[in-house]
Amino acid sequence: MGLMDGKKGLVFGIANERSYAWFIAKQLHEQGAEIGFTFLPIGKMEHRVKKACESMGISDPWLVECDANSDESLDTVFGQWDKDHGTLDFVVHSIAFADKDYLKADMFHQTPRNVYTGAIDTSAYTLLAMSQRALPLMQKTGGNKTEPGGAIINMSYYGGEKVTPGYNVMGIAKACLEHTTRYLAYELGAPGRNVRVNCISAGPFKTLAGAGVGGMDKMIEYQEYASSMKRCNTGDEVGDTAVYLLSDLSSGVTGETIHVDAGFSIVGVPPHKD
Ligand SMILES: NC(=O)c1ccc[n+]([C@@H]2O[C@H](COP(=O)([O-])OP(=O)(O)OC[C@H]3O[C@@H](n4cnc5c(N)ncnc54)[C@H](O)[C@@H]3O)[C@@H](O)[C@H]2O)c1
Repeated sequence: MGLMDGKKGLVFGIANERSYAWFIAKQLHEQGAEIGFTFLPIGKMEHRVKKACESMGISDPWLVECDANSDESLDTVFGQWDKDHGTLDFVVHSIAFADKDYLKADMFHQTPRNVYTGAIDTSAYTLLAMSQRALPLMQKTGGNKTEPGGAIINMSYYGGEKVTPGYNVMGIAKACLEHTTRYLAYELGAPGRNVRVNCISAGPFKTLAGAGVGGMDKMIEYQEYASSMKRCNTGDEVGDTAVYLLSDLSSGVTGETIHVDAGFSIVGVPPHKD
């Protein structure tokens, strides 16, 4: 028996087998979830996402293109899912983008308006846009669902709480994402809706998006030195926490940002290097 048996949902944000979304989907699949995937319609992304699905044992995935910056594209994804499945139990939002020219030390104060608003649009507003479309599907009963409800998660980083040189405008977008989580959790948690919204704040990880952040190697090195557990978190540890947040194990938890960072965020002043 899996923790996600009978649950169906959408995972946004797989680019390859290094993506945090890949680890999340892999663990959800292992726990019995039925998953639909999307790909950003650029380059060889469709092929890459298919390959990533195969590597977790899903050979014929439900796969639809999605540019989350487009309302029409999101309407198509959720509309197609509704037609094919009728109900929705969970959504994984694991997407972000900011112009990497401004993700470098001492570049935050140079950020132009379109880069700032674009980062917030792709990395934070899209959570709200997906939640709007998920809500009516989560209100439908069917399958093994006896009452309305669902769970939504998204991915953040500590640079949304404290200044992290190089993370810059992405830190602003993450602060926005984490607070969007709380406002959504408050409204969608109301009786009769019963939709929970939570955030995972994960440590630095070498992915396509991660590679765009200036100083990523230093962030990893510093986490290994300064975190409570003296290491970085793994992708599987993020996937396990996602299973907890999307399963009934966390039925009383909403609006939270859970750090999966080997105890990095609790440390104020790390020990001096001798
Ligand atoms: N890598 C890290 O160090 C780290 C740390 C903490 C949090 N995160 C967060 O984890 C999430 C996933 O990133 P990742 O590190 O796995 O990198 P990734 O590059 O594997 O994933 C980012 C995904 O965002 C998608 N995306 C970008 N713009 C999009 C759009 N307009 N519409 C639809 N999809 C779009 C990309 O296609 C890609 O699949 C992001 O929110 C990221 O900020 C990453």
